Parts: sequence; structure tokens; C-alpha cells
Amino acid sequence: MNAFLHLGSSTMKPACRILFATRCPVPFGFIPAKCNRAGSMGALASSRVDFGRCLLHADRCRAVDFGRAIDGVRNTLCVPGSGFGRPGNLLKSRGFRGNVSHRGVVVVANAVRSLSTSVETRVNDKNFERIYVQGGMNVKPLVVERIDKDENIVGGEDSSVKVVDDNINLEKSKAGLNESNDVSAKREESRVEKEAWRLLQDAVVMYCGSPVGTMAANDPADKQPLNYDQVFIRDFVPSALAFLLKGEGEIVRNFLLHTLQLQSWEKTVDCYSPGQGLMPASFKVRSVPLDENKVEEVLDPDFGESAIGRVAPVDSGLWWIILLRAYGKITGDYALQERVDVQTGIKLIMNLCLTDGFDMFPSLLVTDGSCMIDRRMGIHGHPLEIQALFYNALRCSREMLSVNDGSKNLVRAINNRLSALSFHIREYYWVDMRRINEIYRYKTEEYSTDATNKFNIYPDQIPLWLMDWIPENGGYLIGNLQPAHMDFRLFTLGNLWSIVSSLGTPKQNEAILNLIESKWDDLIGHMPLKICYPALEHEDWRIITGSDPKNTPWSYHNGGSWPTLLWQFTLACIKMGRPELAERAVALAEKRLSEDRWPEYYDTRTGRFIGKQSRLFQTWTVAGFLTSKMLLENPETASNLFWEEDYELLEVCVCALSKSGRRKCSRGAARSQILV
Ligand code: GLC
Repeated sequence: MNAFLHLGSSTMKPACRILFATRCPVPFGFIPAKCNRAGSMGALASSRVDFGRCLLHADRCRAVDFGRAIDGVRNTLCVPGSGFGRPGNLLKSRGFRGNVSHRGVVVVANAVRSLSTSVETRVNDKNFERIYVQGGMNVKPLVVERIDKDENIVGGEDSSVKVVDDNINLEKSKAGLNESNDVSAKREESRVEKEAWRLLQDAVVMYCGSPVGTMAANDPADKQPLNYDQVFIRDFVPSALAFLLKGEGEIVRNFLLHTLQLQSWEKTVDCYSPGQGLMPASFKVRSVPLDENKVEEVLDPDFGESAIGRVAPVDSGLWWIILLRAYGKITGDYALQERVDVQTGIKLIMNLCLTDGFDMFPSLLVTDGSCMIDRRMGIHGHPLEIQALFYNALRCSREMLSVNDGSKNLVRAINNRLSALSFHIREYYWVDMRRINEIYRYKTEEYSTDATNKFNIYPDQIPLWLMDWIPENGGYLIGNLQPAHMDFRLFTLGNLWSIVSSLGTPKQNEAILNLIESKWDDLIGHMPLKICYPALEHEDWRIITGSDPKNTPWSYHNGGSWPTLLWQFTLACIKMGRPELAERAVALAEKRLSEDRWPEYYDTRTGRFIGKQSRLFQTWTVAGFLTSKMLLENPETASNLFWEEDYELLEVCVCALSKSGRRKCSRGAARSQILV
């Protein structure tokens, strides 16, 4: 195992090379506005890494603006044609301990290529707990100092050593992928499916000779791709599932490991860095010219600092965790999630989400545009989509985290949050005929702990459209809840994930599908599925979207129809034993998608037109369609992706108020739906 530590003999052939973070190192807590060439070796003096060398890449420093060096190396690169290395090598950055050759490039020995990610597999969980669980969230971990303890390797020595093996076939066999995993192999694919597979394949992004993701859209005629040529974390999920269900795990494994490396690169917006553990919204493979006509590839993440509106990708980490679990369940390669670096990645995300703030609610407080709807749409606060993904990610984390002394507090925090969050959403976000009628008759200005109208909702807020629209036999979870504010719009993704993760009660989940069925023309119409219903119009549009010309009524995020939502609808329908609903929707999409060149979204009330500014050959449209087809064909595979009700969680009330005798627990006082 000691071989892990001996990186750096320049006489050995490097399998791949690592370039240090080009933002120069600084003492804790200080972020220079520009890359400081002199750097500061202060806190890093004990490291053998010569961070100061990064100045030789100062041009990249400015151009790409990589994160602080505190986290060590955050950038892997390869040099095609250099004769060094083989494709597919993943080199773990966090906690990397190595020598730096000239030009800031770490020379990595062949002998250690299989250990790069293992550097952090020596994270001492006790340290982790101290730093991340016991409150020191602002302290950056100096993982370079934590690489000496073999006994902390979760999953044993084996899992850590094999991690970075650069042999693609070996990766594949390790992932347990073989013919039998190919669930679509049973019947002849339709012409549309064949075309979709070809498009998905064409969208694959390669890095150092290995597939690492799919670009968001791949329209050769598009002269202004903006960032649609990047790999978006959320967009890749349906691609990943399509590949996994097809028996192809390598790209997903690579994606998970590479994005893990990008986690917590601290890009800044006007000198402010987002919290550690944040996953980027997207990343791009850039080719950077080197000397001697060589080109290196670097992964360049975007944490929102370049994104339109500088939106924070809160959902990225949640999707990453969800995908990690799906990868394990479908491939049977559980060793990946057991690796300590991966375990640390999960913990970082969870800690970021579970950090104490000023919040009064167990739901996550976020800014506008922090999820699939990444523009101003009035969903700041506690939007359902984030809560549903959060709940799912909490459940996935609880299942995947190895429980030991170093993680037990975090696991406890996860359990507590799961319980509180499900109560909160089930109780306060749910609306159906009966509940709306209750709100309609609410008293206001109640001051007490057991008020009925806890959030002081003024009944006049109930929109007129809702009174006429809500069916007798259905209901849904509202879009957002804040003091004196219920956002009654129906957001599809959040409702579908509430079904999939059992955030809603079994009855609520059933009622959501009832509502979609009875409001088929409004929510599915000519193209599944409306991202939200209804659209903001007139003054609401002007004030809430800020007069966004792309989000005009019934377009884009403002009531547009997004075919990518199909796979999540399919998953929800299969879970609830109603695959025929999904079949209807898929058949509808299949008629148009290929002919319309796989648009990103559709416009108008019923989704009749291809979206005004919609991209064509949008990858998650293609992948969502394929995933839906495969799930419907093999519904049993869907159980790898959804969750049943967890009765244990419901029984526990963790607030401890009753024990202290101080106050009555509001859960008890509430008209509880939690066991329904
Ligand atoms: C749009 C969508 C966002 C998606 C991105 C790339 O910005 O709103 O959810 O990730 O396009 O497809």
C-alpha cells in the first residue's frame, strides 16, 4: 500500500499528468481577486507539493480560473501523443501528495496509476467528522496530511487499489457489465430508437481517450452553442441511465469519478466562493496548447460563475448521489460507492445541504434558478423540485454511507432530516379539493405554536384557475412554501420525484397520477410533459420573470413542454403500477420527436410547436426517450431507481420537544398525513 505514496519519480513514465490548480494557494480564508503568482505556502508548507509552480500556467489561470490550491490538485489532463499514459486514467486530486516536476506538472509513475484516486481513500473519518460534522465547515481539509492510515479504507484495500485502473475493459468487467445487463437486447429496435442511439453515441464527450459524459445538445447547424456543448450534470442522468440499462457502465463510472474530482473546485463570483462540496452545473473538456506542438486536455467546470444569471447548481450534487446509487444497483458494482473518496464526496454534499443556517424549515432554502429551471421563475425559497431531489439523495446517502465512528453523526443527521422533511412536505405542500377548501376558510394572523394556518396564508391567494381546475380525485404538491406564500403552480419534476422517492404518501402519490391523467390535455397535450402549470402571464410574467423574453407564457420554463420529463414520468407510473399511462405518453412523443429533430422543449398551451428558441438534437430529450422505452420494456429494472415507503422513518419523531416537556410537538398537533 505504501506504493500509493511514492508519486513523482520523473524517470518513470507517467500514465497521465496532473496540473495543479492554477489559482495559486493562499492561506485559509483569503481569496485573492486575481491569481497571485507568489502564492502563499503558509498552511501548505508541510506538503511536498510545490504549489508555487502554478505560475508557469498563469495564462490558464486567468483563462480558466481554477479553484484554490487548498484542495490540492483539481485538474487532470492528458497529453495525446506524448507516449505517456494510457487513456482512461483517472487521477485523484484531493489529497494528492506528489512531487512536482518543472512547469507545475506532476509526473506520475505507471506503478501508481491504479492508486491515484486512492490518495483520498485514506481520509481519516475521525478527522472528517471533526471538520465536517462537528461544525468547522469553513475549515478546508488538508487531506494531504491524512493519507497514512490504511485502516480507514472503506470496502477494504481492494476497492481502493483498483479504482483508477486505466484498462477500459477491466473497468467494464469490474462494473459487472455483460450481455445480460442489456435489457433492450430482446427485440428489434424501431427506426426512431435506432436513430436515438446513434444521436446519443454522437453526443458522447471524450476525455483522455475515455468517455466521460454527453454534451447537452449536439446540433451541427447550431453556430452559437453557448454552453450546450458542455456536459451538464443533470442532463447526463438520463443518458447515464440509457447507457446503464443497455449494459454500458464505463461512461457512467468515468463521469462519476471525474465529476467527483471537480467537486469543490472553488470558482468565485466576485471574490466569493460557494461552499465546499458543491458540484458543478456542467463541465467542458478544453484543449490547451502545450510546448512542442502538444495539446493537453483539461476539464473545466462551471459552478455557475459563467452561467446566465450566475445561478447556483444546487441540484447537481443531489443528482450525482442519485446517479451513484443507480450505478451500483444496475451494475452490481458496489465497490465504487464504497471507496473512501466517493464516500467523502457523498459526505461533502450532504454536509453542504445539512449545514445550519437561518432556516425555519427542514426543506432546503435556495435561490431562484438553482435546479432544472435555471432562470428566474420565482422559485427561490423552498421549491419542490429541490426538496424532492434532496429527499431522494438523503435516502440514497443513508443507504450508501458506511456507518462508522466517523460517519455516525452524519447518518443520524440524515435520518432526522428525512423524517422532518417528509412530514413537512406531506403536511404543508399537499393540495387537493379538501385541502384547498380548508385554506379557503383559513383564519389568519394566528399567533401560537399550534396555529392551523401556520404560514399565515391569506385565502385570497388561492388562484382562480385552481378552484376550477382541481379534480375531485386528484391532488399534487405545490411548487413552493414560504411565510404567507404558497406557490400553487404545479411543477412536474418535483411531483414526479416525490412519487419516485416516496416523499409523498402512497395515497398522495396515487392522487398525483390521477391528476395527471384527468388533466392530460393540460399537462401532456401534444407533447409530454409540461414543466409547470399554468404559465405566468401578463403582470405576473413581467414581475416574476423580470420580463424574460425566453420565458414568455407557455414557452421554455414558463409552461413549456419538455420531453426529457418523460423518463421520470415513466418511472413514477411503473412504480405506481400504471405503466399504461407512460406508454400513452411515450407513443405520443415517439410520433414527433424524430421528425421534429429532438427538440429541447415545445411551446404553446398544449405543446404544439417546437420551442421558439429550443435547441435541436437535445441529448436529454433523446436519452429520456430511450430510457423510457427501456424501462417500459423491462419494468422490473425500474425498481433499481425508485423507493418504497419507509415506515420506520415515519414512526420516529426526532424533535425531542415532547421529551423535554417544553412545548407540544407540531407534528402531533398537525392533522398528520404521515401514516396515510
Ligand atoms: C437549460 C435548462 C437546464 C439544462 C440546460 C442544458 O438551461 O433549463 O435545466 O440543464 O439547458 O440542457
